[in-house]
Amino acid sequence: MKKKRILTGDRPTGRLHIGHYFGSLQKRLELQENEEYDPYILIADVQALTDNFDNPEKVRKNVREVAIDYLSVGIDPNKTTIYIQSMIPEAFELTMFYSNFVTISRLQRNPTVKTEIEQKKEIFGESVTYGFLGYPVSQAADITCFEGALVPVGEDQLPLIEQCREIVRKFNSVYGDILTEPQAVLSSTKRIKGLDGNDKMGKSLGNAIYLSDSEEEVTKKVMSATTDPNRIKKDDLGNPDICMVSYYHNLFTDKAECENICRECREGKRGCVYCKKQLAENINKVLEPIREKRAYYEAHPEIVDNILKEGTERARKSAKETMKKIKEAMMLNYFE
Ligand code: TRP
Repeated sequence: MKKKRILTGDRPTGRLHIGHYFGSLQKRLELQENEEYDPYILIADVQALTDNFDNPEKVRKNVREVAIDYLSVGIDPNKTTIYIQSMIPEAFELTMFYSNFVTISRLQRNPTVKTEIEQKKEIFGESVTYGFLGYPVSQAADITCFEGALVPVGEDQLPLIEQCREIVRKFNSVYGDILTEPQAVLSSTKRIKGLDGNDKMGKSLGNAIYLSDSEEEVTKKVMSATTDPNRIKKDDLGNPDICMVSYYHNLFTDKAECENICRECREGKRGCVYCKKQLAENINKVLEPIREKRAYYEAHPEIVDNILKEGTERARKSAKETMKKIKEAMMLNYFE
């Protein structure tokens, strides 16, 4: 049986944090163990450039950082193809072909794009670039140039997959049944909140614990986490429901101990400093093996290069096959 190709990706604009770990990374670790799937992870450097075009160093540096993050958590290049988006020219040819099947107003109405434009006002001002507005078209090409893709996504990405499916249907209605309509698989993993209690953990928000943070950095960050503001002295009765330390204990500490922590907090029998130290230790326990692997890959950049090179070659081969069919259907198969 042909394995189902699964596509996920990240924009390399920063290193990955524990929000990614509990979200997309664990999902990918699970998927790569399933024999029915052929998982691909794309490092979306061209998409990252759409809002970082003036900072190519940042994107270049983070392609490697993100690749090392994947390998450090256990993404296995023998099971998962990791590749660099910009190295697949077919995807950009396809982006151009698809641009005839999407209207400007449809892009402007895409909820994901709309939200991002709102968030990026300081970059774009009132007028957004053609490249950024059009990135869903490019993402549709990323997905469809590898046929039969399933796309596990968080809710925020759903409108991009919907837009991709629309493009596929319109394309097929003109050129024949060539493209496979991808399917979104909504992942049940929840979004992890930031150290400050913000709904989202993110680089720009300064509230993230990175997989590559040192032991000291983790401890320092945990010490700054938001706790119940009404609790000033150790014997004040606390409310763990509004405490980020308790929130992270639920992710990193075993269940029985979490119950104990909550009880002690409510009864005013546990100090926040002690509680934070305990949490930092538990986070560090989880991150330690990841850090060790990271150190190995940082010491062997040639291994990382090779993994990316081989993954990209494999991906390109597949994209070329799809492209051949598409060009035939579009009567662009000259000189063959
Ligand atoms: N949009 C995704 C992000 O913001 C990255 C991405 C680009 C992607 N192309 C993709 C994800 C194709 C899944 C499939 O991180």
